[in-house]
Amino acid sequence: MKKIVPVVLFIVALAGCSRLDMQDQPKYRPQRPSNFFADGRSERQPVEGTIARGQLNEDTAFYEGKDAAGKDVDVFPIAVDKTVILRGQNRYDIYCSPCHGRIGNGLGMIVRRGFKQPPSYHIDRLRNAPVGHFYDVISNGYGAMLNYAAQVQPRDRWAIIAYIRALQYSENANINDLPAEARSKVPATSAPPVPAQANEPIAPPDSDFENFPAQPATPSGVPGAHGPGAVPGKQPER
Ligand code: HEC
Repeated sequence: MKKIVPVVLFIVALAGCSRLDMQDQPKYRPQRPSNFFADGRSERQPVEGTIARGQLNEDTAFYEGKDAAGKDVDVFPIAVDKTVILRGQNRYDIYCSPCHGRIGNGLGMIVRRGFKQPPSYHIDRLRNAPVGHFYDVISNGYGAMLNYAAQVQPRDRWAIIAYIRALQYSENANINDLPAEARSKVPATSAPPVPAQANEPIAPPDSDFENFPAQPATPSGVPGAHGPGAVPGKQPER
């Protein structure tokens, strides 16, 4: 027994020494240089045409708004219901209304402050434009308008377009589109309908911008403010 114990211990110790785990094998850390490959990089380029898992995006109608021939699609590639339209309204109000205005007439606040005026959505050309055109504009931008590909994911782009269609419909609705009982509630008017213009007049002039007073009245007791009601001695440096 006295002889066997040290032998067993020796074998166990040896086994520990010869252990080789995978993490100990020679390898490159990500992004490290290498002198093995001619281009000096340790990482190889993915084979041409490699597609990351989940990014095949085969459905060109959904991801690009184009059919197989590369033409703008004219049919929504998603089912449109009220939930989709309300989602579109939410996204539209956030991302598009600052320029295009809440009803799509191109009179958003940024335009009223001097940015290039976009065409109204209610002109015939855009009413008749296929939905794929709108998808293209959101995804790739258009003239002075930058694209919204990073901010608005494909499904939300379609939701926004569904809402734009609702806006277009609302601005061009015909009384005969209403059910009979609703029709009788609309007051009769002799005013002829006003057709939409590409550049809706920016009117009335933005008076609170033009006439912003040089010395706006300040409620008394507000420290650090300028004007008649400001607390003296606590004004910040100008
Ligand atoms: C920063 C302002 C701005 C924002 C925000 C903006 N647009 Fe535009 N958009 C423009 C301008 C300006 C034009 C006109 C571009 C031109 O003709 O150079 C335009 C044009 C368009 C057109 C018309 C293209 C045509 O065929 O004439 C569509 C459709 C459109 N935008 C959709 C959208 C949608 C949808 C969003 C929200 C996701 C959006 N825009 C957000 C400024 C904006």
